[in-house]
Amino acid sequence: MMVIRTVGEMQRQARDWQRQEQRVGLVPTMGCLHEGHLALIRRAREAAGLVVVSIFVNPTQFGPSDDFEAYPRTWNADRAACEKEHVDCIFFPETAEMYPENASTWVLEEKVSGPLCGARRPGHFRGVTTVVAKLFLAVLPDVAVFGQKDAQQALVIKRMVRDLNFPVEIIVAPIVREPDGLAMSSRNRYLSPDERRRALAISRGLTRAKELYEDGERSAAKLVEIVRHEIEDSSGELDYVELVDPENLEPIAEITGECLLAAAARYGPARLIDNILLG
Ligand code: PAJ
Repeated sequence: MMVIRTVGEMQRQARDWQRQEQRVGLVPTMGCLHEGHLALIRRAREAAGLVVVSIFVNPTQFGPSDDFEAYPRTWNADRAACEKEHVDCIFFPETAEMYPENASTWVLEEKVSGPLCGARRPGHFRGVTTVVAKLFLAVLPDVAVFGQKDAQQALVIKRMVRDLNFPVEIIVAPIVREPDGLAMSSRNRYLSPDERRRALAISRGLTRAKELYEDGERSAAKLVEIVRHEIEDSSGELDYVELVDPENLEPIAEITGECLLAAAARYGPARLIDNILLG
């Protein structure tokens, strides 16, 4: 398994692969790999002959009061996990390699990055689109895999790729959960046992709302209320629960077609997000 630490070397390698007509799949991550990430790696393997995993804790997507410094960095375990999955190459750049001093160019998506997490984390998606564009230009992948866990992020990336003509196919892979339903996340390791138990309210609320939907409930307010109640009952600090159109994230009042029920809440130090598709 190759480990590449500079953009220049990554681009040289990427061009070699292109000349050899190899299909390259990229899985962008911030490391601290768990089964959710590994599922993306396996999905990339199905779609491409060569799999590159990028590991980069991207400072520009963290707000001033976010957990950039505290974000878990577990290089040795991540490298071992990639080796086990037969990843071909890890792109693992330093911050200064990705962001030269005085970097002043951004990629900004201005529609689907607005609501939900975009409204609560100013600048977050600008950091995500900028770094993902830079990763695409370093690795030159044919296909890139993202997780439905970050449904809005996947949508923002798809929009960026369409709008800026990136020659990259975007695959969105399903959410991987712990056996008890908690969506896997690198931030779950911040949770104390009590917080972890209480945080189950998010996935429980979403599942209950889905059951109600399947029983015929079509009022957005009622479904949102189920999730809100579960989270507030567990003493989680609710950030949002919203029922939106999965294509453009516009709010839905009465359900007629497919919709996305998305929630964010804080338990102790961890801000957790989760979502479920209805219809
Ligand atoms: P990170 O949080 O490390 O997630 C990397 C990828 O793994 C994302 O596409 C995310 O949606 C996916 N993922 C995380 N948990 C998952 C789960 N339980 N099931 C399925 N997929 C899951 O998302 C980022 O990093 C960054 O914003 C990044 C795209 C790398 C840009 O910096």
